[in-house]
Amino acid sequence: MSSPASTVILGTGAYAPARVLTNAELALTIETSDEWIRTRSGIRERHIAAPGETTSDMAVHAARLAIADAKLQLADIDLLIVATITPDLPMPATACIVQHKLGLATSTACFDLNAACSGFIYALDTASAMIGSGRYRHALVIGAEKLSSIVDWKDRTTCVLFGDGAGAVVVGGSAQPNIGLLGTKLGAYGDCVDLLCIPGGGSNAPATAASLAGGDHFLKMKGKEVFKYAVRGMEEAARDILEQHAIPAHQIALVIPHQANLRIIEAIAQYLELPLERFFVNLDRYGNTSAASIPIALDEARRSGRIKSGDLTLLVAFGAGLTYGSALLRW
Ligand code: ACO
Repeated sequence: MSSPASTVILGTGAYAPARVLTNAELALTIETSDEWIRTRSGIRERHIAAPGETTSDMAVHAARLAIADAKLQLADIDLLIVATITPDLPMPATACIVQHKLGLATSTACFDLNAACSGFIYALDTASAMIGSGRYRHALVIGAEKLSSIVDWKDRTTCVLFGDGAGAVVVGGSAQPNIGLLGTKLGAYGDCVDLLCIPGGGSNAPATAASLAGGDHFLKMKGKEVFKYAVRGMEEAARDILEQHAIPAHQIALVIPHQANLRIIEAIAQYLELPLERFFVNLDRYGNTSAASIPIALDEARRSGRIKSGDLTLLVAFGAGLTYGSALLRW
């Protein structure tokens, strides 16, 4: 196979579990209020997976829609990347489980990628490079999370922020230059691991009865500090990619930011001197779905006609690691 001139998104799909958990319902179990959650984060409700519904189940739903949208068959997919911090199992990769559930060929290369909320942009870049090498034809890139399984439902500082869901895209090659994924900027503040992590259960601190009793297997976040890095990381990632491609911010038709907090998105809008209407926002209905947040938003943006042929779209994300990433796309 020869290398394509560009790598393009051929189809998108998204899935959210049926169960919707509102702020008002949360206020019945923890000391919080709809008003606090809305004014601090912009979130009104989030979707929560059914008992027994797994990250791979949600990934499969989104993937089927993306493959259909791309007008491809299962046999056309030869690479599968699942970006997630909530794999079905610590090992093996959720991508292998998704491959089997979807019915993809066993010759499909499968792996997971952990870059938290930046995971989809990292996975998109990886898939694009592998397709660009000419050695793979069509990649399925999925961001899928069951964050309800790792949040401490007694910790009001974190549990109100997260939700479950999955988004997927199909990436392929194009003979047309200067279209599709024009470039990415990835990075991480690796000295800030402690600001957002799950301290227990890994090889550093294998689970014990005491660690389980202490809740070490739950997500812990120093929200205020993370907020500052989120704004800095997303601003830098957005600025760097625009400078690299000599594109002034006003030429971006739509920014699809990671959906963590409306105040973070407002800060990025101010920094880029773009009106908030130029940003796609759906966090009010989903909360923060980590690696699933951008592909769900991208799918909604496409299907609601917010993205037109020729448009420039900027994806920008930030998450545990602390990772950050941006991607520039021309449709
Ligand atoms: N309901 C009511 N009160 C609350 C709640 C709640 N759910 N949570 C916290 N509070 C209280 C706090 O205890 C505190 O009270 P105190 O002043 O008496 O101590 C007060 O509200 C203010 O809390 P802050 O933490 O200062 O609130 P802040 O305005 O910073 O907002 C938030 C908190 C929403 C978490 C914000 O810091 C944030 O969005 N941080 C970034 C999160 C993020 O983007 N994460 C990124 C990626 S996640 C990933 O990768 C998996």
